[in-house]
Amino acid sequence: MDLTYGTLLVALLATIAVAKSFTKKSAQEHLPLPPGPKPLPILGNLHQINRAFPWITYKEWSEIYGDIIYSRILNQNVIILNSEKVARALLEQRSSNYSDRPRFVMPSARFGVSFRTPMQGYGDAWRRHRRIFHQAFRPDAAVIYQPMQLRKAHQLLLDLLHDPGNYELHLETHSASIIMSAVYDYETKPNDPLVSMIRGAMDSIIKAETPEKAAIIDAYPTLTLLPAWFPGASFKRHALELKSVLTDMVEIPFEYALDKFSSGLSATSMVSEGLARFQGDASFELAIKESSATAFGGVPHAAVNDDVYDGYLIPKGTTILTNIWYGHNSHTQLLASHRHDPERFFTPSGDLNDDLVTPVWGWGRRICAGRYLADASVWSAIVSMLTVFDFLKAKDASGKDIDFEPRWTSGVASRPVNFPCRIIPRRGDMDVEKLTSLISIAT
Ligand code: HEM
Repeated sequence: MDLTYGTLLVALLATIAVAKSFTKKSAQEHLPLPPGPKPLPILGNLHQINRAFPWITYKEWSEIYGDIIYSRILNQNVIILNSEKVARALLEQRSSNYSDRPRFVMPSARFGVSFRTPMQGYGDAWRRHRRIFHQAFRPDAAVIYQPMQLRKAHQLLLDLLHDPGNYELHLETHSASIIMSAVYDYETKPNDPLVSMIRGAMDSIIKAETPEKAAIIDAYPTLTLLPAWFPGASFKRHALELKSVLTDMVEIPFEYALDKFSSGLSATSMVSEGLARFQGDASFELAIKESSATAFGGVPHAAVNDDVYDGYLIPKGTTILTNIWYGHNSHTQLLASHRHDPERFFTPSGDLNDDLVTPVWGWGRRICAGRYLADASVWSAIVSMLTVFDFLKAKDASGKDIDFEPRWTSGVASRPVNFPCRIIPRRGDMDVEKLTSLISIAT
């Protein structure tokens, strides 16, 4: 049994948190909270949320309650922002109040692994991390990585041509190898051990760190005292596994980059730039090590102080979730983002519109620190792939197209579940030799 309602029942019997959840009251009860679904005692609205795809519940709620919704997950206040307008009004225009992270954030933090930049509270350590990212990946610094990104996009083309059935692996390798190069100046090899280690760590993060696990553990911290073998305490085993893999994920690539830097052989990378600037400053050295091992993904914000928006109270400490998925499925001409509809980016007269799909990068002072690097990686890969390949439905034995319903993984980083498809060169006579020679002409 995983950390689910069963665990919760154990927790309810075993802890004094029942009393705690009744005694916590808002300091400013005279102002209404934003509208939202009626919570149950103790559980709050936990039972109403689609746990695999919470954004679907948030969308349904927004149709009833509007763009700003109050909900309760156990003893946590959680406010969901369902429109870009409200997200900008709070997270950007009042960013000094909304740049914190919820104090619990994720189970690993409970087990002493809270080093990652997205998990840092709004304070000096986080500022050091951001400075290091900014130095390496601000717009005018990120361009230095473009030749490397193009090289990796071309490798992706060769991998897809050679072995199209494994497209998922090639896409993962492409993004991992860009990050390893830009962050550690590490050149990945086929079946690279460091990439496999990081992939394993990311899988553990996705398994161990879901917002509802975080909320349950935060509401009932005594759960962390349960032994890992206890029925329902698999979260503890996952979190302990995570602690060990995350330690490797921080130490091993950093040691590699440090050795290279010390030998004077390092090319530009986030670590080498950081060391060149801050070596000798212990707190910055730690920040370089920790921030470089940072994963990415959408993370909740938290309100530092009580605030009032549109007549509603937003209590101090409230977790603020933006429903990026809904924003995306509503803001661009009401076209669903998962449909292939390039027209959404054109004005009626056929020019490009100004939609840069910025909500994918998050908001305000906590906006994605790697967005310029990531944007260039995604762009160069997409345009390269579309130039060389057609992406078509797979065919069955009788030659008929195989239809499929797109599905998505849940967890902190959602992506499409592998689907059958055919990736074939647009030119019938393309082979590895021709593609290699085309690539060499293009670069
Ligand atoms: C397509 C790829 C990517 C997407 C869609 C993405 C998206 C995001 C989002 C939504 C956030 C949360 C922002 C918020 O809290 O409002 C975030 C945070 C972050 N991202 Fe990215 N990201 C991507 C790639 C990267 C890369 C390649 C790096 C590093 C090289 C990176 C570094 C970070 C960091 C450090 C944070 C935490 C910022 C903070 O808490 O201050 N991201 N990202």
